[in-house]
Amino acid sequence: MNKSDIPSKQKEAIAMLLDDHNKVRKLFKAFEKEKDEQKKQEIVEEACFNLTVHTQLEEKTFYPFLRECDPEKYGSMLNEALVEHGSAKDLIAQISGMTPEDALWEAKFTVLGEYVNHHVQEEEEEMFKQIIKDKLDLSEVAEQMKEAREALEAKQKA
Ligand SMILES: [Fe+2]
Ligand SMILES: [Fe+2]
Repeated sequence: MNKSDIPSKQKEAIAMLLDDHNKVRKLFKAFEKEKDEQKKQEIVEEACFNLTVHTQLEEKTFYPFLRECDPEKYGSMLNEALVEHGSAKDLIAQISGMTPEDALWEAKFTVLGEYVNHHVQEEEEEMFKQIIKDKLDLSEVAEQMKEAREALEAKQKA
């Protein structure tokens, strides 16, 4: 999804989420190519940090807003998204308890990347497109998202 295709009422909120998606997509790609063990570890840490902030941001602000806008239209889509977040969080927790010496470390992060790529694609192709079609006004939730992001980043860094 291209940021320039987003109408103004949805732009700020969706662009924020798209930036996160693109950032983690790049990190997973970089991990595939990286040979240096130390750098691989740094990529894993950065991706897990960003994914944790992003999933919590969606769960605390964006998803509840959509559910409230139209529970019938967005409910099952959001439930699926929450299950996918659950799988991602579970893998992130396992990875953070591991070191690169663990036999499955690389595989866990690779599978996390596959889950995440699938999930962000569904959000962009189904959820975000539906929101644009429905002309939902996201300007207020965008403000909440900005505040929530700051708090989540500070908490996650502590
Ligand atoms: Fe999500
Ligand atoms: Fe997302």
